[in-house]
Amino acid sequence: MRMYDLIMKKRKGEELTTEEINFFVDGFTKGEIPDYQASALLMAIFFNKMNKRETADLTNAMVESGDKIDLSNINGIKVDKHSTGGVGDKTSICLTPLVASLGIPVAKMSGRGLGHTGGTIDKLETFKGFSVELTEEEFMNNVNSINIAIMGQSGNLVPADKKLYALRDVTATVDNMSLIASSIMSKKLASGADAIVLDVKVGDGAFMKTPETAKELATEMVNIGNMLGRQTIGVISDMDQPLGYAIGNSLEVIEAIELLKGNGPKDLLELTLTLGSNMLLCAKKADTVEEARKLLLESIENGKGLEKLKEFVAAQGGDITPIDDYSKFPKAKYIEPVVAPRDGYITKIKAEAFGLIAMELGAGRATKESEIDLAVGIVLNKKRGEAVSKGDVLAYIHSNDISKIEKAKNSILEDIIIEDKYDLNIPLIYDIVR
Ligand code: URA
Repeated sequence: MRMYDLIMKKRKGEELTTEEINFFVDGFTKGEIPDYQASALLMAIFFNKMNKRETADLTNAMVESGDKIDLSNINGIKVDKHSTGGVGDKTSICLTPLVASLGIPVAKMSGRGLGHTGGTIDKLETFKGFSVELTEEEFMNNVNSINIAIMGQSGNLVPADKKLYALRDVTATVDNMSLIASSIMSKKLASGADAIVLDVKVGDGAFMKTPETAKELATEMVNIGNMLGRQTIGVISDMDQPLGYAIGNSLEVIEAIELLKGNGPKDLLELTLTLGSNMLLCAKKADTVEEARKLLLESIENGKGLEKLKEFVAAQGGDITPIDDYSKFPKAKYIEPVVAPRDGYITKIKAEAFGLIAMELGAGRATKESEIDLAVGIVLNKKRGEAVSKGDVLAYIHSNDISKIEKAKNSILEDIIIEDKYDLNIPLIYDIVR
């Protein structure tokens, strides 16, 4: 088999066979196929696309390129949850203990934040001592004994994706549905869960900017999951404003804890219940969405979700005292309000821009090597659609560096749009693809 022939075939718009896709992924991962030929094939895929079968084959070949986690020693149906990335998205912090508190095993691999989006692993590290580097044995033992463990992605999980993603990034071939879907799904499938609930974000803070493209991506990923034998559900949710009020690591963790204490913001609660009820359906813990939502709400009301969070954090070496005393979380030195310059209605809170402001305050990484400040970020005081009067507080900046406050304030004033009326009807949940 020659790489030249594969490139020519795809250039002509023809279908690649399973063997050809395996040859490409295997050879590229081993360094036997040079970047220039891989780049040419990626560009041909970008223009001429892959069909469902080719996309599933590409995903499978990527899964097979490295280690796979075997969760078969864990009893029950293991359900994973994955978000395509957003601003203020702390859902995993409240959702996973809530689901685990109902007896469903959660064995999750998560990532760190990059750019304007945050990562679950960084947020969990706001608990002093929390370890995300568990051995496979510790990971399994925790899931078997307390139903939950979350760890960072192992070094050799889907090495093909690491190499391909780096190449796509510099050859303008990231935004192809088959390439994105296979990249995300290969990592989920290699992590070993039986079922996967995907939160596909749509809006200006998300990868997918329109409901149509988000639905296309969700459908592509659900197809891959189903073709490779894992039940997969795609929830399409709004990321046209930050989720909840808090953006920044410890600030987001506090908001997630508040949800488990029964005081969660409306949108975060609704998304948690939507994703959670689908996880419960996959795990056969409930027969209907209504029944599943009732169980999740009960676990908030009776405090079992909160207890599970404490158990989970303690089991991974984290200090749980901040859960009952927020003053023990990393705290910013300066908290500065930003006030409304006029009366009106908030018609837009630009999610991506807020992610970038939080990043500049130190909450996120500009590059993979950047150090982050767990204490800093922004807490909104108003959300889209709310009426404001001149002088009302729109948001609070949490910063450890006084020199960064003025710039953040100006950006916030530019990125919260206030107009005379609000007549948009943007749903939180757009659709659910099964
Ligand atoms: N996230 C991924 O993991 N891969 C992509 O290709 C895009 C987003």
